[in-house]
Amino acid sequence: MNQDSILQEILSLKKEKNAVILAHYYQVPQVQDVADHVGDSFALSKLAAELPEPLIVFCGVSFMAETAKILSPEKTVLLPVAEAGCPMADMVTAKDVLALREKHPEAAVVSYVNSSTEVKALSDICCTSANAVKVIRSLHHKQIIFLPDENLGSYAAELIPEKEFILFKGYCPIHEEVMEIDVKLARDENPDALFVVHPECRPEVRHRADFIGSTGQMIRYINESNHHSFIVGTESGILHPLMTGNPGKKIVSLTPNFICPNMKKTRLEHVRDSLQQLKVQIELEADLMEKARLPLMRMLEVS
Ligand code: 13P
Ligand code: SF4
Repeated sequence: MNQDSILQEILSLKKEKNAVILAHYYQVPQVQDVADHVGDSFALSKLAAELPEPLIVFCGVSFMAETAKILSPEKTVLLPVAEAGCPMADMVTAKDVLALREKHPEAAVVSYVNSSTEVKALSDICCTSANAVKVIRSLHHKQIIFLPDENLGSYAAELIPEKEFILFKGYCPIHEEVMEIDVKLARDENPDALFVVHPECRPEVRHRADFIGSTGQMIRYINESNHHSFIVGTESGILHPLMTGNPGKKIVSLTPNFICPNMKKTRLEHVRDSLQQLKVQIELEADLMEKARLPLMRMLEVS
């Protein structure tokens, strides 16, 4: 079956089942194009909570679909590919959080949404890359346990020197792989370009950037800029909305293999099957969801 017929099937199933399709900017172009809303993890979690449709197909990775379910427990949330996970989210466990809390009883636990529901349930507040600094500044605590992403935590720590940070040593294997030398090479090849980067990159990469932000913030920065040339330091899926939205600008990826294999697992066929068979439904224990909702709601309140 060709892609056009699958697309037609998706559109009619979506109407029939009163569903909404959400996709992250790292999804393949065809999936971004069939989605009703494409966004960064913050925008998508807000949308999941606000949208009226009772059925959400979440094209992203599992922590994102789980966040949508926690914020909208009455809705059915589908993750088209069950195996689409996030290795960074798996790096920290509930046991790690409990141990850190015991060691630093005065500290607030701030968890990046790239974490499990169990970890969220033990946190004081959640954040995304779009609002980490704002979220941490909103806290009265002097000590902050930040997890799991050490790079995002060190970015926030640099901007909030008045607080003391205890950083968990988690990382995104995709962003961590990018080195300072890659920035030098890309800048040598594109001497007039502005360099925009995601805060999941290493500090030495981040320190060479003209702009640091979440995927949504990077897109807004480039869309609104009068500059003509950009080097983009995050997963390659972001090039699709950037190139479509900025036909006159030169936009290149920092490295050729900036690819998150988990984000690339979802294809149009999976979206169709997911709608057709109502799978894979996110199911979380009610008690746990209740506990994890609080830190997420706090994040939404201060953002
Ligand atoms: P955003 O918060 O920018 O959407 O990023 C999510 C993510 O997983 C980055 O690797
Ligand atoms: Fe996780 Fe990194 Fe993929 Fe984002 S890019 S979903 S942090 S593995």
